[in-house]
Amino acid sequence: MADNFLERRMEELHDGKKKTIVKRVGQTLDSLMMKNRSHRGYDPDAPVSEELLKRIVEVNTRIPSACNQQVLRFRLVTKDESAKVLPLIKMGAALPELHLPFAGTEPPAYIIICSKEKETKLVDMDLGISAQSMLLKAVEMGYNGLIIGAFNKEQLKEQLSLPYDPLLVVAIGKGIEQIRLKEIKEDESHKYYREEGVHIVPKVGLEDLVI
Ligand SMILES: Cc1cc2nc3c(=O)[nH]c(=O)nc-3n(C[C@H](O)[C@H](O)[C@H](O)COP(=O)(O)O)c2cc1C
Repeated sequence: MADNFLERRMEELHDGKKKTIVKRVGQTLDSLMMKNRSHRGYDPDAPVSEELLKRIVEVNTRIPSACNQQVLRFRLVTKDESAKVLPLIKMGAALPELHLPFAGTEPPAYIIICSKEKETKLVDMDLGISAQSMLLKAVEMGYNGLIIGAFNKEQLKEQLSLPYDPLLVVAIGKGIEQIRLKEIKEDESHKYYREEGVHIVPKVGLEDLVI
């Protein structure tokens, strides 16, 4: 089934005598998940406003949280301030020869996820749920992103005068990369690579995931 099957499907509902046609305009979870690829190059002509970042962060008012602790806090970085973040993050460590991002395609905005409490296993679980939920929201709104764990914590905290320790950086923008998933067996290389400009991401198939 095409992943946008439900988007295009016309659903007929009967309410008594009247027949109503309802067009589903929402996106399926599968289509959002497919579009939710890690982008390391962004459209320089598509700026990201603080308002847009707030709508993305709003998903955190609805996500699960271990013991309902809700200790994560979010610093929004847009416009000129984004230049402070760029030298402190590392993108595409598996492709060092490319020196990503390419000049002119740097992320226009970031969400810095911080924690009010010391980082623990439970905080990290909340962190993953938060980051993925925000990326899915970004994709739903026609944007893309990248989770960045490789960054200079101390310098980022200082540069942005953060009141709490930063745990993850999420870049947000309109991705311009061509990215494809490739199903692999679990014993094949998991390393992403590029083929004629297309970024290929190997993913272990369902058969090997189920034990
Ligand atoms: C916790 C976490 C940390 C990550 N840190 C980085 C990073 O520092 N730099 C980077 O370029 N990508 C980073 N990534 C992105 C992964 O490389 C990416 O998810 C993986 O290659 C699979 O690609 P996909 O997200 O398109 O499926 C991170 C992903 C996660 C979940």
